[in-house]
Amino acid sequence: MQRIIYGVLIVMAVACTKAPAEPTGLVTKNAMVVSAREEASAIGAKILQRGGNAFDAMVGTELALAVAYPFAGNLGGGGFMVYRKSNGDVGALDYREKAPMAAHKDMYLDSTGTVIPGLSTKGATGVAVPGTIAGMFEVHRQFGTIPMNEIIEPVIELVEAGVMVTEKQAARLDKYWEDIIEINGDNTLFYNKCEVGDTLRYPSLANTLKRISINGRDEFYKGETAKILADFIQDNGGYVSVEDLAAYEAKWRQPIIFNYKDLRLISMCPPSSGGVTINQIFKMLEPYDIGDDDYNSARTLQLFTEAARRAYADRNYFLGDPDFVDIPLDVLLSQDYLEERMQSFSFDRATLSSDIREGSVLMAEHDETTHYSIVDQYGNAVSVTTTLNGAYGSKLYCDELGFFLNNEMDDFSAKPGVPNMFGLIGAEANSIAPGKRMLSSMTPTIIEKDGNLWMVVGSPGGSKIITAVAQTILYVYEFNMSMQEAVNTPRFHHQWLPDEIVFEPGGFSEETKDKLRKKGYIINEKLTPIMGKVDGIRILPDGSLEGGADRRGDDTAVGF
Ligand code: GLY
Repeated sequence: MQRIIYGVLIVMAVACTKAPAEPTGLVTKNAMVVSAREEASAIGAKILQRGGNAFDAMVGTELALAVAYPFAGNLGGGGFMVYRKSNGDVGALDYREKAPMAAHKDMYLDSTGTVIPGLSTKGATGVAVPGTIAGMFEVHRQFGTIPMNEIIEPVIELVEAGVMVTEKQAARLDKYWEDIIEINGDNTLFYNKCEVGDTLRYPSLANTLKRISINGRDEFYKGETAKILADFIQDNGGYVSVEDLAAYEAKWRQPIIFNYKDLRLISMCPPSSGGVTINQIFKMLEPYDIGDDDYNSARTLQLFTEAARRAYADRNYFLGDPDFVDIPLDVLLSQDYLEERMQSFSFDRATLSSDIREGSVLMAEHDETTHYSIVDQYGNAVSVTTTLNGAYGSKLYCDELGFFLNNEMDDFSAKPGVPNMFGLIGAEANSIAPGKRMLSSMTPTIIEKDGNLWMVVGSPGGSKIITAVAQTILYVYEFNMSMQEAVNTPRFHHQWLPDEIVFEPGGFSEETKDKLRKKGYIINEKLTPIMGKVDGIRILPDGSLEGGADRRGDDTAVGF
């Protein structure tokens, strides 16, 4: 009898297991790169086709994004990479920017202790020490198989040929034209008022890349390029010096790893908050079987919002650069703590963010930063998010070197309790200090299912990165969507403060929103922003790859 019951239970369990959704994005058999621009994905895929691995392709894709997608792709910024090798080894590289040695806690405050608007966001004063070139050479030193000059060569060819301006790119250039001119003057070599179909050119970037290709990493940090860069930043009133550049190092770190049901997620650790915050969100959701309802039902939205509210409150208070602050990760990620965090949650009514922690801020719209995902023909995977912070970073463009500089200093909390450009309120843990890395929301993530590679995913979007990545994973895993469908599906966001839910257009009915309002949720109808631009790859049961390239941008999957 016992055997029969056991057998029935197994049959029921198997019947309940959902078959993976049919793919709707590009499917390739061997390898794939998904990034914000076709030119960058194509360069990465070409490197793979020549026999290079995912790490070689990462370097080519990253540098090509600086050319094809200057909005966020960069030489003057930084980023994070999470990898999983074909043998299952995992790790993370931190090439986040650092505060210059001249930085100090109150550098963006006036004599009355008030934050001076624009000082950390526009122009040279917001520039932190860039990490991208160090990151690319470090990943290549550790795992690369193709000589660096052969990886950089097609990027130089792309610079020399120029990049065709797309409709979305023209709209972005138009939007930020006045800011770019305000910072760089009318004679900037970057922008010649491009229209759709024109070619965007960078007269000096090819020379910079050629010098880096010949002289290696130190060209950027100790060579002629370093000298030009530091002089340029300082002549414009900034702080980054030749000593700061010479001292910069990318760092290998232990990623955040956790299980959600039968998935194993590998994501970025501090100084990014991404991995810790999605870990908290998933673990708070796990007991509730969120997949029992539709992705856009009031129950699903309520559950996700309450988990995000609590996780963002912790993010903003506890997280910072682990080289400078002690982060109580063992507590923050423990089962007991997270269960206790959700004890104040009730399906009957919204928890007030003021009951979790105090504060009130305005939220701005941003979709800066960029993400790319790569799986190679050997089974290695990399998930990389890279940024200048704001759109075109600080807007400061170095004519002589041919690239934009970041405004990453704004990701520090200039004054505890005062929001940054993403509306995120920081605390002491993320205060400014010389040589410190600023807290990030970047969430490059790799997921295993049953011990095998299952998904590579990430997104831009400032504070909305974390919710965009978490929802995309849930859309595939809990709501049985394909990779492309999950990427296309509208998203929503709550980040503790401001205490409001923001929805992308479409997907969420008025009836659902009314149900939430009745329970006390505040819905911001005025903002209907784009929330992230997710680029992911799903591994299908037969081992082929499905790309999810975000329709919100010019994002494209290329593979073979
Ligand atoms: N600059 C955006 C982030 O690091 O989250």
